[in-house]
Amino acid sequence: MVKSRLTFPQEKTKLFYLRRQILNWIEMDVLLKKVLSEVKPSKAEKTRLGKVAGKLLQRVNEVCKELDVYAHGMLVGSAARGTWLRSERDIDIFILFPERLSRKKLEEKGLAIARKVAGKVRKEQFAEHPYIKTRMGGFDVDLVPCYDVSNPAQIKSAVDRSPHHQRYISSRLTSELRDQVLLLKQFMMGTGVYGSDLKTQGFSGYLCELLTLQYGSFKRVIGAANHWELGEVIDPEKAYSIEGEARELFPKDPLIVIDPVDPGRNVAAALSLQNFATFVRASQDFLRKPDFRFFTPRKPRVLTPQEIRGLIKKRGTKIFSISFTTPDVVPDMLYPQLLKTKRALMAQLKDAGFRVLRSGIWANNKSVILLELSISKLPNVHARVGPPLQVDADDFVKKHLTSRRKLAGPFIDDDGRLLFEVERGYTEAKPILKWALTQRVAFGKHVARSISKGYMIHEGEEIIKLCKNKEFTKFLSEYLTLRLPWYR
Ligand code: UTP
Ligand code: MN
Repeated sequence: MVKSRLTFPQEKTKLFYLRRQILNWIEMDVLLKKVLSEVKPSKAEKTRLGKVAGKLLQRVNEVCKELDVYAHGMLVGSAARGTWLRSERDIDIFILFPERLSRKKLEEKGLAIARKVAGKVRKEQFAEHPYIKTRMGGFDVDLVPCYDVSNPAQIKSAVDRSPHHQRYISSRLTSELRDQVLLLKQFMMGTGVYGSDLKTQGFSGYLCELLTLQYGSFKRVIGAANHWELGEVIDPEKAYSIEGEARELFPKDPLIVIDPVDPGRNVAAALSLQNFATFVRASQDFLRKPDFRFFTPRKPRVLTPQEIRGLIKKRGTKIFSISFTTPDVVPDMLYPQLLKTKRALMAQLKDAGFRVLRSGIWANNKSVILLELSISKLPNVHARVGPPLQVDADDFVKKHLTSRRKLAGPFIDDDGRLLFEVERGYTEAKPILKWALTQRVAFGKHVARSISKGYMIHEGEEIIKLCKNKEFTKFLSEYLTLRLPWYR
């Protein structure tokens, strides 16, 4: 026994991996078939969507005539390409206007048409670009005015590329590729990285379609992502002769996918570093052991108040929550503002010498910023380090020598640095937090305004008071037991 183990360790591992690999491939094909059968819309569902979309288009064009506006409707997005997941039922209808129309007129006439089409059931969304949401035949419908630009590299409003995306993708997708897109979308959904909205900061549907076209199948996308590195460049139409050129254009983006209809645009611009890395890890784990749970993960368990109390205690950190009324803005404005505010608070705490271990944001009608500090109490004495040896220290010494907060110094420490020891003033994090919430420097605009009208700070176990809200309890439970979805 021992002898054979000593003689053939290499062969044994190789064989072991080869067998596992083959089993994986067989297993994977079975698995993917099963996933597809669950997420692919049925014939009846397709017909139904086709009918509703057709009716909507007809209505848009009618209303254009009625209002004597030179414009027409176009079905875009996943509904137009047959790449929508059964669970996601949305129809994107764009209303295309001639380029020469002013921006003001586009918004005015676009909204007038959309309002008339939507009727009473509607919600007006004013983010960067105004559009209208409505419901029809069980579908969520977006009615979006845009310019019918001939060159998508010269768009006049943020959404003008979509009709070009529509033409590009639909002329290239086959029915086999559509299935592959569905698998990729569901995998991204299951691993929590699907959606280019600014709350999720993940992969858009269009990005999934481009990746599928690029690599040819779901499996090959996953196989490629397995080796992706930061700053990965994908340039479907070879718009740039060298990869470095594309990378230089988007130096901070973890993934660069050059938009085939507009080389100046990174399709993955909204993707966060966290979601990029999550997808790469998910791909590695999936290839190692394909499993259904990558597509439909278990929901995190909702903890009881006692369990929450127990976990907060066990962590031994100091958790603060700052809660306030959610400002009345669209999600694509709210979440970036909450993140910005959270970052501002973290920076101030860090500057004051505290250390933030982890943090989070949550919102529905109330908004909450969670800050978990690993160092929340500091000694009163605080070292002030002078300039390096070759630099004149006169100003530094003068400044601190007369300070009322001086405890010791100047002196030279074991590392040769010139030091004063002064009193810190604030030794607890809470007053710093309160001070920062009064100053509101570098906060999101609407969030700052809401906080100025009032906020609450809870610390440690007190946070359980916020658990009267069930959705918050879910959020806090997930925070305390954080795990990648496919490990749940
Ligand atoms: P959607 O967000 O509705 O995406 O945007 P989708 O492709 O229809 O996918 P799902 O199935 O609904 O999730 C509609 C169109 O807007 C453009 C694309 O052209 C997309 O097809 N779009 C949207 C982008 O180019 N980038 C984005 O981040 C979002
Ligand atoms: Mn859509």
